[in-house]
Amino acid sequence: MQDDLRMLADEIRACTACPLHRSARQAVPGEGSAESGIFFLGEAPGYNEDLQGRPFVGAAGQLLDELLSDIGLDRSKVFITNVVRHRPPERIHGRPRKVDGLVIFPVYHPAAALHQPALRGALAGDFAALALLLATEPVPQQKAEQKTADQMTLFGN
Ligand code: URA
Repeated sequence: MQDDLRMLADEIRACTACPLHRSARQAVPGEGSAESGIFFLGEAPGYNEDLQGRPFVGAAGQLLDELLSDIGLDRSKVFITNVVRHRPPERIHGRPRKVDGLVIFPVYHPAAALHQPALRGALAGDFAALALLLATEPVPQQKAEQKTADQMTLFGN
């Protein structure tokens, strides 16, 4: 298993499948051991993770280490990684881009603005930009049958 993880880490370090690798210093593949069967999955590397190429090494990582220690676990005994393996640029939200003919428009999660009220303005700005985009970019129409099938898949049918 550790060999598989090492091979996967090499693949992640060489990955150029999405544009995030261009702005990141390096990939953050994840680290630790699979032996315990315990797996922690973060969102994406931050500034410190990008510098060191290791997950959860900043302030959130210190807190994670403390929380693990409080329940008798050492970080080396669990596997820690992120959904996204390259640090996203500061301002990824509010910037539309086209992928396979579809417009992708990342915005802050509304809950982010509830937790950090300072983000409220940026979130409102993203939605104002979204309104402008919707006024100029035709929204592709999805076939009704296709949508129904996607929904059913979500619920295991
Ligand atoms: N550090 C990480 O590596 N991932 C997070 O999601 C947060 C902090």
